[in-house]
Amino acid sequence: MIILDGKKTSEKILSIVKSRVAELDITPHLVVILVGDNEASKIYVKNKKLAAEKVGIKSTIIELPSDIKEQALLDRIVKLNEDDNVTGILVQLPLPEHIDKNKVIQTISPKKDVDGFTPENVGKLAIGIEPYFYPATPQGIMMLLDEYGIEVEGKDAVVIGRSNIVGKPMAQMLLRRNATVTTCHSYSQDLEDKIKTADIVVSAVGKKIVRCKMIRNNSVVVDVGIFKLPNGKLTGDVDFDVVSPSCGFISPVPGGVGPMTIASLMFNASKVYR
Ligand code: GUN
Repeated sequence: MIILDGKKTSEKILSIVKSRVAELDITPHLVVILVGDNEASKIYVKNKKLAAEKVGIKSTIIELPSDIKEQALLDRIVKLNEDDNVTGILVQLPLPEHIDKNKVIQTISPKKDVDGFTPENVGKLAIGIEPYFYPATPQGIMMLLDEYGIEVEGKDAVVIGRSNIVGKPMAQMLLRRNATVTTCHSYSQDLEDKIKTADIVVSAVGKKIVRCKMIRNNSVVVDVGIFKLPNGKLTGDVDFDVVSPSCGFISPVPGGVGPMTIASLMFNASKVYR
């Protein structure tokens, strides 16, 4: 069993991004919008800023109050779209309930949409045109698989979770690389059977869902879940101790997909479209 070391691989990616940024004729500028005071979002946003600084990308965090009017937020985004000094825009999710997330996403210019969430970028991925940006987490996972020489073509892949941020784009990216993809979710029947026959399992649920008896020998297991146990310890969707002995490759939590997501986002933030 080989551990997919996201920490080490992310450092390699970040150093490539850093050299790329140094060669550009402009300094990329990522603007991160944080609405309200979701504690987890604050930590994510801070980590994104730290990573940007590390690779020479300018970053600005715009903190807005949780009661901001939807239109005021949309107006801010339009201004950032028009600002030639801003090359990337990221609106941290979740947003307060009175704000329509989809309206917000649709307002971001696809050429500055470093999350790859706008309909243009999502649609391009779906129909096989190169998008301006691929969503960070699935792109980071593909980078991790590539780093370890894991072949995707012709493999049976099971993606657990169908979110717009991870599950759906992950399925699209695996499909694009010629895997046979099954997307599972809370209504899926016989999840165990599906996991058992998979060559590649990507779990993005946020619950302990992948357990020992489910796994096929030598499969690749990628754990996107990250949540705290009652004792405060961070854990993922996969029961690592029992699943890992039968895997070919497995990503740990923490130190797997998390750092890859940040590195992948920085890769996106280093892309400048004019
Ligand atoms: N919230 C959780 N994950 C993400 C992400 O990848 N991008 C944004 N914008 N918000 C998130």
